[in-house]
Amino acid sequence: MIQPDQYIRSLLRGAPGERVIARGWVKTRRDSKNVHFVQLNDGSSPVDLQVVLDHGVVPEDVVATITTGACISVEGELVASPGKGQAVELKATSLKVHGAAPADAYPLQKKKHTLETLREIAHLRPRSNTGGAVFRVRNALAYAIHKFYQERGFLYVHAPLISSSDAEGAGQMFQVTTLDLSKPADFTQDFFGKRSFLTVSGQLEAEIFALAFANVYTFGPTFRAENSNTPRHLAEFYMIEPEMAFCDLKDDADLAEAFLKFQVQEILANCMPDLQFLQKWYEPELVKTLEGLVSSNFERITYTEAVDLVGKSGKNFEFPTHWGSDLQSEHERYLTEELFKKPVIVTNYPREIKAFYMRLNADEKTVAAMDVLAPRIGEIIGGSQREERHDVLLSRMKAAGLPEEPYWWYLDLRRFGGVEHAGFGMGFERMMMYVTGMKNIRDVIPFPRTPGNAEF
Ligand code: 4AD
Ligand code: MG
Repeated sequence: MIQPDQYIRSLLRGAPGERVIARGWVKTRRDSKNVHFVQLNDGSSPVDLQVVLDHGVVPEDVVATITTGACISVEGELVASPGKGQAVELKATSLKVHGAAPADAYPLQKKKHTLETLREIAHLRPRSNTGGAVFRVRNALAYAIHKFYQERGFLYVHAPLISSSDAEGAGQMFQVTTLDLSKPADFTQDFFGKRSFLTVSGQLEAEIFALAFANVYTFGPTFRAENSNTPRHLAEFYMIEPEMAFCDLKDDADLAEAFLKFQVQEILANCMPDLQFLQKWYEPELVKTLEGLVSSNFERITYTEAVDLVGKSGKNFEFPTHWGSDLQSEHERYLTEELFKKPVIVTNYPREIKAFYMRLNADEKTVAAMDVLAPRIGEIIGGSQREERHDVLLSRMKAAGLPEEPYWWYLDLRRFGGVEHAGFGMGFERMMMYVTGMKNIRDVIPFPRTPGNAEF
């Protein structure tokens, strides 16, 4: 096992004269007259450790197997590096090849691969420079999210992944069954005694916990069977859902803004070498936009204002807007990228286009919903104040054609110790796209699940 001080990240900060062991996967080998140079990486750093291997340290037939992708360990002494970019290199005194990667077969040769190619070799993608940068940022982002909520006293809740209610009421669920569906199905005989699904959201369960612990959050996978093969949709994605009692829509929007800024600050503070790599190859304005987000005040407008602004833009959109229609991504992009040039929080949407649990406003036409839209990404957060009035909720469910039975406990929360409460869901991969500058959501999750694809 590699110890923390044995990662290449640590070795690169070591002092000349130190004896160390480095382990990892070969990026490249270059041969010169008296020495071989091996670039070694173990995923801990975007910078490789240069290994200098004098002729004769290992037999030449072993050297021949030190090719791109091979797994090796090297013992030796750190020496001052004449090359730029790193202070030390490793002068090898012994070297072992654990697993070769024959050059005529190994798919991840040293050259620029397209993102599409990397997706097809997702089992090797983490070893690529891009995979390294993206998945280190993903790790740091997950950590930042827990840090944000833990520092504010929020309780981490694990919502169930298998559910018999549709949290969004949108019917985009994957069914979970052990029945043989080639025969007529009686779901009372199914594993859970009723029709069950993979969850689309942990919100309803988070509400249960918010009405006991006040401030809570979930962070887990969610599933949607929407057949949208777009660069922004996954069938399996991670969502963070904070839920707060004694909280209205304004508090909810404040939390969302603070949350997004905190995450970006943490990534700027902890992942700068990776951001610089991503900026060089994928998004020329990356660091500037991230810094801009931290210092900006998000724009806040109502849905009605948003529709007006889109209408007055004078632009030729593919989908015209009118009051009552949902904002399309072209409208969201116009608002965030052209008009305001920063994130925009849109509130108070028409009740017809939003979920049944959102609190009905006094105008009875709109609900206390909010979407946070970000440049390049569109919707990154969706949330709302929840309907805490039992009778209003019941009539909203009826209007939406939802059966009461699966939601009996959700309705009970409105009968016993209810209070105003609100929350939101942030798509983890949408945020990953924002902080890495990647344009396709398939490139920021280790193993994307999309229509027609569940390989790996
Ligand atoms: O807006 P959504 O559907 O909201 C909810 O699920 C609420 N229950 C959240 C809450 O109030 N607790 O989804 C929330 C976020 C979206 O804003 C988007 O970032 C992301 O989840 N999202 C997806 N990300 C990737 N692939 C998909 N198919 C996504 N659908 C939603
Ligand atoms: Mg939404």
